[in-house]
Amino acid sequence: MGRFIDGGNHMSVVSLEVHDQVASVIIDNPPVNALGREVRAGLLDACRSIDQDPSVKAVVLSCKGRSFVAGADIRELGKRPLEPYLPDVLAAIEGSRVPWVAAIHGTALGGGLELAMACHGRVTAPSAKLGLPEVTLGIIPGSGGTVRLPRLVPMRTAVGMVTGGKPVEAEAAFDTGLVDALSNGNLLADARAMALELAGQGDPVPTLSRRLVPGDPVDWTVEEGRLLKRSRGATAPLEALATLREGADLPAAEALSRERARFLRLAASHEAAALRHIFFAERAAGQSLKSVDAKPVDLTHVGVIGGGTMGAGIATALLLSGSGVRLIERNATAVEAARRRVAETLAGSVKRGVVTQAKADDALARLIPGDDYAALADCPVVIEAVFEDMSVKREVFAALDDVMPADAILATNTSYLDVNDLAAMTRDPSRLLGLHFFSPAHVMKLLEVVRGGATGARALATAAALARLLRKIPVVAGVCDGFIGNRIMAAYRRDCEFMLEEGALPHEIDAAMRDFGFAMGLYEVQDMSGLDIAWAQRRARAAHRDPSERYTHIADRLCEAGRLGRKAGKGWYDYSTGVAEPDAEVLHILEEESEKAGRIRRRFSAEEVMQRILGVMQEEGRAILREGIAESAGDIDVVMVLGYGFPRHKGGPMFMAGAR
Ligand code: NAI
Repeated sequence: MGRFIDGGNHMSVVSLEVHDQVASVIIDNPPVNALGREVRAGLLDACRSIDQDPSVKAVVLSCKGRSFVAGADIRELGKRPLEPYLPDVLAAIEGSRVPWVAAIHGTALGGGLELAMACHGRVTAPSAKLGLPEVTLGIIPGSGGTVRLPRLVPMRTAVGMVTGGKPVEAEAAFDTGLVDALSNGNLLADARAMALELAGQGDPVPTLSRRLVPGDPVDWTVEEGRLLKRSRGATAPLEALATLREGADLPAAEALSRERARFLRLAASHEAAALRHIFFAERAAGQSLKSVDAKPVDLTHVGVIGGGTMGAGIATALLLSGSGVRLIERNATAVEAARRRVAETLAGSVKRGVVTQAKADDALARLIPGDDYAALADCPVVIEAVFEDMSVKREVFAALDDVMPADAILATNTSYLDVNDLAAMTRDPSRLLGLHFFSPAHVMKLLEVVRGGATGARALATAAALARLLRKIPVVAGVCDGFIGNRIMAAYRRDCEFMLEEGALPHEIDAAMRDFGFAMGLYEVQDMSGLDIAWAQRRARAAHRDPSERYTHIADRLCEAGRLGRKAGKGWYDYSTGVAEPDAEVLHILEEESEKAGRIRRRFSAEEVMQRILGVMQEEGRAILREGIAESAGDIDVVMVLGYGFPRHKGGPMFMAGAR
């Protein structure tokens, strides 16, 4: 039996016990052992007690629960740090008279990895992941991460980890030297053996006293250029790079204090506040789904109707998450095309290295394509993704109502159509709802859950379970034209066309959006996805349009001229040279339409363009909140960031509105 040492008042989250000369320091702070103040204080107390106890020869630091320390306590970020500060705790551990070995399972992230790096040895379970994701929260490591990491791994690896923020697998961590051993058996026993071995080698060697790991030199200018391109205006990745670069030429103590100063400055920045906002908004999204009091249906077999762009993507997402999918198309030719589309999407994922060939094969084996609706009878839930045409969809839902079990959940992936009208086609409208996926559906994280007037609790519980299964973030939307995202996009698209009519040019609007941080401009996106669907929609609505409402014919004129986008070789841009080039014909149409509308064309600055776009997004967002279409402003930000390329480091349009 071990012996407990009195380590102070923090024993509930950090315990200390000694067995045969080896102390076990165990962090137990569910759910992910975040390094809150109590944990820091507990570690410091444990460290002091150990240093005063001559019977202790070595220490094993481990965590209870599903993970090693997965990071700082994010609620503390952005506030004034509380004592004891993590750098001081780590300095105490690193300077301990006996060696500390971190036994890592689950994830060691951020402050968790910094803690592990301050230990004198590291052993990990093969399934563990290790990383410094601080840049994703607009900050850099603040407790020696950028100083200790290049003393354990080559600088090139350190640059990748600190500026990209992506965790690495245990095996890669072992190969690069970040951890000293992989444990294939008993992690704690292996850590103990390592600790005793280190104890036999004399005084423990602090990581900070090591030299930088030799390796290929880093071309800092090239790295900076790469980050500038990729970060879309976010500054944290560049700050992270600069910290590593600066620290490489400084004594460790000086590098540490520079890193800390930069960390504190960034933690108080607007960018960090925006990224924290979106981090919490994502976790809070789909609020009302969390309290739905009903059981979801079984998701082992799911039906998907329509195997085009969206249907194939949704089927792929389901297959990769372990469900079997019955994919229904119109006829044998379309069935084969749909099957091929799914197979190609899976092959693409294998090629990109995101799934293994074996996983893709296993997924495809669970796909049952066909053209007989009767085959859906054993599916407790079906997702419709046929053409965006009310009459086609009505027919589909009438047919589903006949073949599906009476308690099956029926979902539509419609972009704009009235979910209540579709529900009216079924005998029990409580089982119908919208599940609006984003393209490519097996990649995009957002799922708009459209709650119809009659949608019942089982349907909502099923949507929540499906989002969990597919690892998507659900946002609940009420019924209106375009729900949350497409409604906001339609509003700013309309205003952008007004700007075109007033004198702006498509490439100027696109450049303003890209400079702001969007991955692509509005017109580049339209050219990529094709102008014809929106055109058909405008024609379908033409009869109901209020003649007194402002309307520009610019997009219609482009379509009439066969400029349907990239697939036609021309749209808002000309693609005859292979890249998007501004086109004289478009300019001509713009000038004619300005004249017809009686507008004198003038120049727009990038700032003015973005002010108008943001203003419209925010105005529409406020209307959406007022009408109860969205449950919170945070949900709107999540939709715009995850579904429409709004730069994450700006926090979303509603966050920006609040900050002004
Ligand atoms: P698509 O034209 O690529 O695919 C539609 C598929 O449905 C075709 O393969 C067609 O053969 C099949 N189909 C048509 N009638 C059918 C029937 N009666 N029974 C079985 N299959 C039938 O269209 P896409 O882009 O996949 O869109 C599908 C739905 O998803 C639409 O409601 C659209 O508004 C919505 N959506 C589209 C997004 C996009 O980015 N493309 C994004 C989110 C939603």
